[in-house]
Amino acid sequence: MAARGGFSSRIGFIAAAAGSAVGLGNIWQFPYVAGQNGGAAFLLIYVFWIFLIGFPIMLGEITLGRSAQANPYGAYKKYGGKVWGLVGLFGILSGVMILSFYNVVSGWAFGYFLETAFGNLLEEENFSTFFGDYVADFSDNLWFSFGFMAITAVIVLQGVKKGIEGSAKILMPALFVILIGIIIYGLMLPGAMEGVKFYLLPDFSLINGATIYSALGQAFFSLSLGMGGLITYGSYLSKKENIVSSATLVAIADTLVAFLAGLMIFPLVFSQGQSPSEGPGLVFVALPGIFQAMGPILGKVIGSSFFLLLCFAALTSTISLLEVAVAYFIDERKWPRRKAVLVMAFLIFLIGIPSMLGYGAVQSLTSFTFYEGTPKSFMDLIQDLFSVVALPLGGFLLSLFIATRWTTAKFSEEISHGTTNYKGSFLEGFLNIMIKFVCPVVLGFMFVLTV
Ligand code: PHE
Repeated sequence: MAARGGFSSRIGFIAAAAGSAVGLGNIWQFPYVAGQNGGAAFLLIYVFWIFLIGFPIMLGEITLGRSAQANPYGAYKKYGGKVWGLVGLFGILSGVMILSFYNVVSGWAFGYFLETAFGNLLEEENFSTFFGDYVADFSDNLWFSFGFMAITAVIVLQGVKKGIEGSAKILMPALFVILIGIIIYGLMLPGAMEGVKFYLLPDFSLINGATIYSALGQAFFSLSLGMGGLITYGSYLSKKENIVSSATLVAIADTLVAFLAGLMIFPLVFSQGQSPSEGPGLVFVALPGIFQAMGPILGKVIGSSFFLLLCFAALTSTISLLEVAVAYFIDERKWPRRKAVLVMAFLIFLIGIPSMLGYGAVQSLTSFTFYEGTPKSFMDLIQDLFSVVALPLGGFLLSLFIATRWTTAKFSEEISHGTTNYKGSFLEGFLNIMIKFVCPVVLGFMFVLTV
């Protein structure tokens, strides 16, 4: 059997898992979703979900992976038989499909970085038109997403220690430095405080059932839960490490970056009197205009730093998404890592093509209408299916699996390795109740509501 890799230290695991968690979900999505849904009010609900449901599910995935020492399929199959193995396979499939569109958006960020740093993006006149033309241009999309996938593949090829851990240890600190730098600069701009107020004074009138559900989906996506990513990373973690404290740091880092991304973006947006509830275009349409207004040199520096930050965040996430599929082929099919990485990276890149085409290049992929809802692009459709629905469903099945097959006794036993006083503690009782009753009930209920 091909040797399974492993993280060299606790910090390595934390950097890699936080890298997986921190991504486009934090920097691109969170600020615009929060901007449309009551700012801090949304943030509060989001944090509530992270700690109530996200955290126990995260521990469930890491413990299952570390105990089974296997990819999601292998882990479920080991303790639950072939039928439960299907749940693991479904997670791997979700990861593949998420990566297929995630890589396309990462390609946009990559293209914007290159155009800002080395090209003439900031000389454009209308960024809305520019963005529309940009995403509708098939060859731009093709090359930038190919490039992004190639960088991801080169890192995953180097294996767990050198590639995944090594890159996360550089990219994550760099990301924090850039983020803090832009926040400080933004807060000094005239009008910035209006942005801070907009973001931090909660508007509860915008909260309803749909926002509460979307905050849960956002929490799942943001923590990379429900598709076996953390089962895979957990399988590379040594028994000596304390899972509870590592997971706490990962959840805090992820929430902190989402929070800080809002604190970076809203002061910038308000300093130019732009609309904070722009939607998905906030980062690609509103921000370039703001960088432009900073003048040619400063705009280039701050603008390219921002898009580089977006690329770093996305890269540590694409790495984790690719690794899930790769681990499956290494463990179950005995493929060498090289073959698994090259085949899967190329295949997933190809699966992403319809998502690229759905922004104008091919008309029939741009709008699908169901019921009386607003028309959706192909990418939105895949995102709805494999992220909005599949991730909370994956979390539901994981908690059900622990409650009914693997047992909370094993869950608790696995957590206790690497701790001194977990057994018999209040925390143990709390986590067992969460994973056995609260998670399945809340997630099951939410799932029924969406379908
Ligand atoms: N957590 C990542 C983000 O916030 C996305 C992701 C989802 C990565 C699922 C891996 C698995 O952008």
